[in-house]
Amino acid sequence: MQNSVLILDFGSQYTQLIARRVRELNVYCEIYPFNKIPKDLSLYGALILSGSPHSVREKNSPRIDLNNLLSLFPTLAICYGAQLIAQELGGRVDESNIREYGRASLTIVNKNNLLFGGIADNTQVWMSHSDTIKELPKDSILLASTNDVDNVAYSINNRTFCLQFHPEVYHTKKGLNILQNFLIKICNLDQSWTPDSFVKKTIEDLRSKIGKDKVILGLSGGVDSSVAAILLHKAIGNNLHCIFVNNGLLRKNEYNNVLEQYNEMNLNIKGVDYSQKFYKELRGVFDPEMKRKIIGRLFIESFDNESNKIKNVKWLAQGTIYPDVIESISATGGPSATIKSHHNVGGLPDFMKLQVIEPLKLLFKDEVRRVGASLNIDKNILARHPFPGPGLAIRILGEIEENSVKMLQEVDDIFINGLKDEGLYDEVWQAGAILLPVKSVGVMGDERTYEKCIALRAVESTDGMTADWVNLPYKFLQDISNKIINRVKGVNRVVYDISSKPPATIEWE
Ligand code: XMP
Repeated sequence: MQNSVLILDFGSQYTQLIARRVRELNVYCEIYPFNKIPKDLSLYGALILSGSPHSVREKNSPRIDLNNLLSLFPTLAICYGAQLIAQELGGRVDESNIREYGRASLTIVNKNNLLFGGIADNTQVWMSHSDTIKELPKDSILLASTNDVDNVAYSINNRTFCLQFHPEVYHTKKGLNILQNFLIKICNLDQSWTPDSFVKKTIEDLRSKIGKDKVILGLSGGVDSSVAAILLHKAIGNNLHCIFVNNGLLRKNEYNNVLEQYNEMNLNIKGVDYSQKFYKELRGVFDPEMKRKIIGRLFIESFDNESNKIKNVKWLAQGTIYPDVIESISATGGPSATIKSHHNVGGLPDFMKLQVIEPLKLLFKDEVRRVGASLNIDKNILARHPFPGPGLAIRILGEIEENSVKMLQEVDDIFINGLKDEGLYDEVWQAGAILLPVKSVGVMGDERTYEKCIALRAVESTDGMTADWVNLPYKFLQDISNKIINRVKGVNRVVYDISSKPPATIEWE
């Protein structure tokens, strides 16, 4: 099936965005680092070359076997990709006099080309480059220019299309149309990659791969593990054994609610309460990274303990999604130079000799939600905010005590339900409350108080890599603050966190 797109990554910050846009057009694609091209290329019907933080003028900048690849596939080359083709095929790339960043207006020079079919002059495109193509390679045709840059788009033999701007970013107004022209009109690909087709094919694949074997899966209540569980359940029924570990650091009532919800969905699920073990081992621990390590280890121990009770298990299923996969094979080592050591629920301990199965490993988060909707999973599960594996442990700054967990659960519950009641929950990417390790003076009735301070945090984001605080209505903040202080004993002050990421992070620890 030559219906997939091969995207070669030269380290651009936008590479994932290219893949998402291609998938939005219901065309399947995969990203590979430029230096790890798959051996079997028979699946692909088109090639896209990404941008890069490098300059083609650097001696050791990323290179590929262009002649071979361009002969195999119709190609769309973006920014660095376009410069690389220009330079390697006899054109010339220089440092530009004017650095072009941000919006520019496109003049289409060649009106008959398929790539810009249906796109009018002066459409806004988004630039981000400091090199420029001074001379086009031989046999190329100029397709478009801007006021400042002559060679903004060119093609070779109506098969290789090169763009200096970024069609994948949302600020390129007709970017999706340009990608569509390339994929559908030029490459003749099918738009058949839909959530329904994914569900159908994945269930068939899971059935034939797993057969009558047993599979275990650590459910966290989050979107990814839930969708993975339902897919597996549809494929193999009760041979899927789900384990839900209560680490005592979940939201208020979450353990029971999640169990109930999954029981209603007929999942074969066992809830196990290890809270006291977690509290005990976290006693006296103040350091955030140490907390994460302890929680990660305890999770694996408890999960292992429970899974050993199920006989003849062959597989461990995980809710890994595509960004995790790309990051681990990325050309640049991924963007996540360990700022915090994220522990993902369900990690495979070395001593568990199980094969891993990851039904969502080719999907982006928004696609996981679309697949979940196609599986009729409750909207409350699909729209759930992300919640960190270590849970409230990294929202209680400093030492964790059972009492402080209870206190924070109450506060968090008021905040989250408040967002839901006011219709704000879906507008926020993630929200939560943080229990600060300070006390401050207050007055209640005629009494002086000396109690804990809570910070509220609500952010908007697409992937958690960058985030900004949400401008929640003052009236809402006012009401929530009143409710918290009046209802939760031990709290006399509430503040709202107005820092963006970067330079702050979403969590406080
Ligand atoms: P930060 O605080 O790094 O958070 O800006 C980005 C996103 O990651 C979540 N997060 C974690 N998730 N284990 C997880 O599974 C962790 O240790 C962890 N730390 C942060 C955070 O909630 C946000 O969604």
